[in-house]
Amino acid sequence: MTTGGKKSFGEVKFCLVFPCETLSVPVMRRVLGDTLRRLGVDEESVYDILLAATEACTNVLRHGGGPVNGYAVVTSLGAVGCQVEVADEGTGAAGSPRGAAAPGPELPAAQLPESGRGLAVMRAFVDNVTLDSRPGRGTVVTMRKHISWPADAPLRRYRAAS
Ligand SMILES: Nc1ncnc2c1ncn2[C@@H]1O[C@H](COP(=O)(O)OP(=O)(O)OP(=O)(O)O)[C@@H](O)[C@H]1O
Ligand SMILES: [Mg+2]
Repeated sequence: MTTGGKKSFGEVKFCLVFPCETLSVPVMRRVLGDTLRRLGVDEESVYDILLAATEACTNVLRHGGGPVNGYAVVTSLGAVGCQVEVADEGTGAAGSPRGAAAPGPELPAAQLPESGRGLAVMRAFVDNVTLDSRPGRGTVVTMRKHISWPADAPLRRYRAAS
């Protein structure tokens, strides 16, 4: 499943691609956390984003199914916030639009018939969570969080220069 086709959320976008191995989760935390901090995201927001992203990545490893070789963590940063998409090409979520005859629209995570601790954690720590899952086309979890950029945030300087 691709993450393209949606309106771009931010001025800076980067993509991390990982194999489906347990070690990918702490590596994701290190790389994503360091990058967010260096661009000026405050420590509390970094903590919240990493917690939510950890749950989404753990779900790929746990629920993605046999076809999943790897997954992508696509992060967009802009004036109003941060968006992190965790995308895999697995079998999709049971009980979600995967079971429908035709692909369904993106659903708010709160509407999933089956929802455990991980999605609840994501919803608690970021402002908006959706899970888009379709039969044979994988799953994309999209998490958005408002960021209050400090005046001296490196991202501001980058945007001013571009
Ligand atoms: N990447 C994914 N691929 C397939 N199914 C997924 C994926 N992410 C979430 N799901 C589905 O959504 C459900 C809810 O996920 P959630 O993280 O809330 O709970 P959980 O993983 O079952 O349990 P917990 O996170 O509490 O250990 C999962 O049980 C699974 O069916
Ligand atoms: Mg989970």
